[in-house]
Amino acid sequence: MGVSDVVTVLLLLVLINLSNHNIKGIDAFHRIYEKLQSQSVESVNHLHRTGFHFQPPKHWINDPNGPVYYKGFYHLFYQYNPQGAVWGNIVWAHSVSKDLVNWEALEPAIYPSKWFDIGGTWSGSITIVPGKGPVILYTSLNQNKTQMQSYAIPQDPSDPYLRKWIKPDDNPIAVPDWTMNGSEFRDPTTAWFSKDGHWRTLVGSVRKHRGIAYIYRSRDFKHWVKAKHPVHSKERTGMWECPDFFPVSLTDFNNGLDLDYVGPNTKHVLKVSLDLTRYEYYTLGKYDSKKDRYVPDGDSPDGWDGLRFDYGNFYASKTFFDYKKNRRILWGWANESDTVDDDRLKGWAGLQVIPRTVLLDSSKKQLVFWPIEEIESLRSNYVRMNNHDIKMGQRLEVKGITPAKADVEVTFYVGSLEKAETFDPSFTFKPFDLCKLKGSNVTGGVGPFGLITLATPDLEEYTPVFFRVFKDTSTHKPKVLMCSDARPSTLKQDQGPSPKEKMYKPSFAGFVDVDLSDGRISLRSLIDHSVVENFGALGKTVITSRVYPVKAVKENAHLYVFNNGTQTVNVESLNAWSMDSPSQMNDGGL
Ligand SMILES: *[C@@H]1O[C@H](CO)[C@@H](O)[C@H](O)[C@H]1NC(C)=O
Ligand SMILES: *[C@@H]1O[C@H](CO)[C@@H](O)[C@H](O)[C@H]1NC(C)=O
Ligand SMILES: *[C@@H]1O[C@H](CO)[C@@H](O)[C@H](O)[C@H]1NC(C)=O
Ligand SMILES: *[C@@H]1O[C@H](CO)[C@@H](O)[C@H](O)[C@H]1NC(C)=O
Ligand SMILES: *[C@@H]1O[C@H](CO)[C@@H](O)[C@H](O)[C@H]1NC(C)=O
Repeated sequence: MGVSDVVTVLLLLVLINLSNHNIKGIDAFHRIYEKLQSQSVESVNHLHRTGFHFQPPKHWINDPNGPVYYKGFYHLFYQYNPQGAVWGNIVWAHSVSKDLVNWEALEPAIYPSKWFDIGGTWSGSITIVPGKGPVILYTSLNQNKTQMQSYAIPQDPSDPYLRKWIKPDDNPIAVPDWTMNGSEFRDPTTAWFSKDGHWRTLVGSVRKHRGIAYIYRSRDFKHWVKAKHPVHSKERTGMWECPDFFPVSLTDFNNGLDLDYVGPNTKHVLKVSLDLTRYEYYTLGKYDSKKDRYVPDGDSPDGWDGLRFDYGNFYASKTFFDYKKNRRILWGWANESDTVDDDRLKGWAGLQVIPRTVLLDSSKKQLVFWPIEEIESLRSNYVRMNNHDIKMGQRLEVKGITPAKADVEVTFYVGSLEKAETFDPSFTFKPFDLCKLKGSNVTGGVGPFGLITLATPDLEEYTPVFFRVFKDTSTHKPKVLMCSDARPSTLKQDQGPSPKEKMYKPSFAGFVDVDLSDGRISLRSLIDHSVVENFGALGKTVITSRVYPVKAVKENAHLYVFNNGTQTVNVESLNAWSMDSPSQMNDGGL
């Protein structure tokens, strides 16, 4: 071969390589509909749009990015497709709010424009760096779709809106080294500053099926060096997306902590989003800042069976410390369970859940979550119910509010647990399967009891949210199952372009770690047209469901409390409110 032949062969190899990249698609983590990515939406269908959740006027959204409180404004950035209702063309869309309820949309903060991010501007975080202001760390993809970490700074840090962002030319700040796969290196966390003069951030990855959170260190927030060991990793968990790492106080159960807090009475939380299952889990544990290692507590399952922020439709979550109110706040993405055809017809896909405060539970074994107090400003019509017995097979309607857009808090008094069914230990890590087996229409002893949301009066369509109490003969403690069951949520007959049988209608469930010693258990549900967020036992177990009723919509939706257990249950108190829409109305009126 002559020199020119060698060059030709090399060029061919390069071309083959490039085209391979293009064909394979970028990632294992989103189904890619190339033809639909840039099909702009003509009209938006309001039927299932939410009334008080965060949604842009149209098109696809996914991960929340870089939440921060800065100069009087809460900022939310999020992965957004400005050109279509499926994933693609992702930019960092940007909105600001004074109260986390009413939002104002600004221009996208970052979008592909430089050699290091022309292939994508993916998820990341914001760190407020003294002397510099807020700095974005994000995953940038070059033309070859190699994932790298880059940074962006505000053009004018004194602008509380942070409207314009600059991506300096010394980017990227981290590229995959020879041990890493350039398609599995993403989602830098908010960085924290340590006494040793270093900033630290985590980046998610995987190696030989072992999920990994790498740790990077920097003195100047520009030059970053990977630490020798990952901060943590776990075999057979696959790619760790969107790691989140923060301290919680072991003595103050009412306030959150900022990332750089150092003190003896703390634990750390490491949350990861598992690309393989599309669920998240977290552990509580100890972070050794000298060795830069995190070790989960022995009783904190590290893997598929781990604790979850939310046992339902919830992913790519991210917390931030709100120093205005000394609290840690969680954002998370709830994707559609609808079909892609329906998403296109709706003209939109995805929403952010109502932000939640995150605290360590007084048991010190898990976290608790609660909707931010600001959301209560949307409460309007109010009804209540007190001391009402519900016998087996009974249901009571909650009237006087808008059931499709409501906030409901109920406390049940269950009394004796004598009639509770015996718990089968093979379901210990399978609440989902147990809920599927024992739905709301399967008679029990103590429970099922709870709420019937988004229902038609004949229960042709309904989304039940309920508890079922078992006796665990091995621990002699009650085992409490909580379900949010989407199976009966939608009529089975074909509706619209795609049969609803094919829809994803999971019986989401989790156990609630309560001993019921005072005989009480509470449930709060935020109901908003196509999303129901449920908080069991003051936020010990949280489950979000997406549902798409055909008949139980808007003013035709009904709300009930019910009991299908042989043991009579008392509704000790029920408080329910209609919810107003924030200034940026989403659902086009109820
Ligand atoms: C993209 O890949 C090709 C061949 O694989 C390589 O020659 C080129 O330098 C890469 N470009 C960048 C920006 O990494
Ligand atoms: C790198 O990761 C991508 C995406 O997960 C995967 O498809 C590819 O096979 C990996 N490459 C290697 C060499 O392992
Ligand atoms: C989104 O929805 C689909 C069902 O349509 C589901 O299978 C998938 O796992 C969901 N979650 C995420 C995080 O993508
Ligand atoms: C309660 O059980 C009865 C009998 O199985 C059933 O008809 C009814 O739909 C159940 N209620 C709920 C909320 O599932
Ligand atoms: C009970 O509810 C489940 C879930 O909706 C459903 O699949 C099943 O057919 C129902 N059973 C009866 C007897 O109504």
